[in-house]
Amino acid sequence: FEYRDHDSKAEVVWNRTSVTPAMRAQIKGHSGKCVWFTGLSGAGKSSLANALEVELNRRGYHTMLLDGDNLRHGLCKDLAMNEADRNENIRRVGEIAKLFADAGIIVITAFISPFRADRDNARELFHEGEFIEVHVDTPLDICEQRDPKGLYEKARQGKIKDFTGINSPYEVPKAAEVTVNTAEHSEQELVRQLIKFI
Ligand code: PPS
Repeated sequence: FEYRDHDSKAEVVWNRTSVTPAMRAQIKGHSGKCVWFTGLSGAGKSSLANALEVELNRRGYHTMLLDGDNLRHGLCKDLAMNEADRNENIRRVGEIAKLFADAGIIVITAFISPFRADRDNARELFHEGEFIEVHVDTPLDICEQRDPKGLYEKARQGKIKDFTGINSPYEVPKAAEVTVNTAEHSEQELVRQLIKFI
C-alpha cells in the first residue's frame, strides 16, 4: 500500500523503506488512524479535537493534532481562503495526516474542509476504516451567535470575502462516520462517543 502511482511522475520512483508502517505501529502498540473533523468556523472543531486528544493521551495513545489556524501560520501560510487555495490546503493536510498515520500515530485534524471532493481525496489516501470523518454539525446561526473571533460580524459587514457559510459554500458530508451536535451534547459526552467509535 505504500506504493502510490496516481499523480506520480514517470521519472520519480517510490523508495521502499525497510521499516514498514506495520512495524512502526507494532512498536507503538497501536496502528495509525485519521480522525478528520469538518464543520463551519466556530462549530467547535478545535475545542472538540483538543478534548479528544487529551483523552486519548490520558489512555496512552500516541497522537498528533493538526489544526487549521495553526497550520496556516506555517506550512500553509502561503494559502488564502479562495476555493483553489482551500483545495491545496486540504490536499497538504491529507498528505501530512497520512504520513503521521504511517508512523503509527492517531492524527486528529480540525479544518473547515468545506468541499466534499477534498475530504474524499484525503479519505482515499487511507485504508478502509482508518479514516474517520467527524461532522461537527453546529448550525450556522449558533456559530454566528458564538462568533468567538468576531469573524462572522466582519464577514456580514463585507470585510472578509469568501467566508464559509456567508459567502463561500460548506458542503455537508453525506456519509460521515460520526456526526456530532455541540449545541445538544457536552464536550465530555461527545469525546466518550468518539472514543467508543475509534
Ligand atoms: S479550510 O477551508 O479548511 O481551508 O480552512 P481552515 O484551514 O480550517 O482555516 C479556517 C480558519 O481560518 C479563519 N478564517 C476563515 N474561515 C473561514 N472563511 C474565511 N474566509 C476565513 N478567514 C479566516 C478562521 O479562524 C477559521 O478557523 P475556525 O477554527 O474554523 O473558526
